[in-house]
Amino acid sequence: MNGHSAPASVTAFRSVTLGVLDVDDSARFYEDVWYLTPVARAGGAAYFRASGDEHHTVVLRRADEPGLLRADFAAADRAAVDALYEQVARSGGRPLGAPALLDEPGDGYGFSFVDPEGRTIAVTADVQRHRDATPIENRPNKMSHLVLNATDTDATVAFYRTALGFRLRDETARMLFLGCNADHHSVAVTRMGNTSLNHVAFEVPDLNSLMRGTARVRRAGTDLEWGIGRHGPGSNIFAYFVDPNELAIEYTTNIDQVDDATYRPGTPADWKPPIPGNPDYWGFAAPPSERFERASGSLHPAAPRR
Ligand SMILES: [Fe+2]
Repeated sequence: MNGHSAPASVTAFRSVTLGVLDVDDSARFYEDVWYLTPVARAGGAAYFRASGDEHHTVVLRRADEPGLLRADFAAADRAAVDALYEQVARSGGRPLGAPALLDEPGDGYGFSFVDPEGRTIAVTADVQRHRDATPIENRPNKMSHLVLNATDTDATVAFYRTALGFRLRDETARMLFLGCNADHHSVAVTRMGNTSLNHVAFEVPDLNSLMRGTARVRRAGTDLEWGIGRHGPGSNIFAYFVDPNELAIEYTTNIDQVDDATYRPGTPADWKPPIPGNPDYWGFAAPPSERFERASGSLHPAAPRR
């Protein structure tokens, strides 16, 4: 690669591996309440798919401390995996091994690395795809986005841009939004001042799915912790919950589809919510619950008050 070409880029946010206190309990929640579908069990971990074509979107693995164990991003092909491997190593990521065939459900080719704040990230290609992919009302389609709290937000954002080819799509006072395909954002990095998982968002097909899905999750005894509302950057509609491990999760839909050639990233001055202090652009949602604030790392001692 010469110095003038665009950086190699990942093409999608594929899946998350969540550390959970009890794999079976959490599996029941993600299947019966959240409406993912079990697809494999391996090495003590439970794998779930959404209704899209990704082999799996969530892996649940036992951990003493719940949190994000790994986030997987797609590359277009094996050559792109190799290019990203070189780019990650040059950008300050610590590879956990050279690109290789993967020995895990879904197979594929890829590598993992540790980012500058210690998160484990994988880049993969040629993972098996489901042939029966179809949007099903009421069920997640795919992962939408991953929101990370960072200790050094600007350094983290710079790393994801140079190492993985993310594009800055917008910046507000409290977070920066990064995209790698037409979805407005696939990753966002907050200014909470601590390294932790803020939340993971699952895309549902449409507004009816979001409303009905939210109603179903509530009927199953899981409270809505924030929403229903509409974000500024990305315009996506949101409903936030907390899973049995006190991890923050979201159903979202209608995220803006953007084109890098024409999209102009907004600045904090551009993104002032219509009702000061309320990040719901409809002004409809009450503020997030304290439980959600805690689950999303927003009540950490280092986090600024909203
Ligand atoms: Fe979100």
